[in-house]
Amino acid sequence: MINVALPKGRLGERVYGMFERAGFGCPEIRKPGRKLIFESQETGVSFFWVKPSDVAIYVERGAADVGVAGKDILLEYAPDVYELLDLKTGCCRMCVAGRRDFRDDTTRPLRVATKFPNIARGYYSELSREIDVIKLNGSIELAPLLGLSDVIVDIVETGGTLRENDLATLETITQISARLIANKVSYKFKNEEITRLCRGIGEAVSQEAEEK
Ligand code: PRP
Repeated sequence: MINVALPKGRLGERVYGMFERAGFGCPEIRKPGRKLIFESQETGVSFFWVKPSDVAIYVERGAADVGVAGKDILLEYAPDVYELLDLKTGCCRMCVAGRRDFRDDTTRPLRVATKFPNIARGYYSELSREIDVIKLNGSIELAPLLGLSDVIVDIVETGGTLRENDLATLETITQISARLIANKVSYKFKNEEITRLCRGIGEAVSQEAEEK
């Protein structure tokens, strides 16, 4: 059996479609309900839904053999896992954003509100810019509006949240998308199964790209 940790929510459902397309479906998963684990003896795959930011933990510790995690989570937590494939979905950007008229006052540390303190620190340390990180858990866009921070480091997908709050992207740090990741021990001992799964999903990703 290969255990797969999928991120709960819209992205997870889209990604599950790729597994299905690759021949690793488990029809029961589509039934509405609160069940968390779905097993298919036929394909030898067992899926479970976890909070998106927890997928990498399940995979790193071997509770899941493979999983799907956003590149944002992989950059932020640097889990000890293999990154097998870019699924080319869940695409967005990690950005610095702030008020449109923002001007950096380099005589003092820049106050940065974010859910991603490590990404923010890494980015500004490359620029040799001293920062004061303010770790928040959501609605990050509020911080510069209320004067809690000078800028934010956050995910921008459509740009709608920034626009509706009179904020703008100031810099793009990196592109983000969903990645197929694997536990290192599982990759060694279930190599044949994981390689087959990875190949199948890779083909599903290419097919979806062609259809776009
Ligand atoms: C994310 C992110 C932005 C928003 C960006 O928040 O933190 O707030 O989505 O998307 P957009 O560019 O399409 O508007 P999320 O929905 O995860 O909620 P959160 O504020 O609780 O983090």
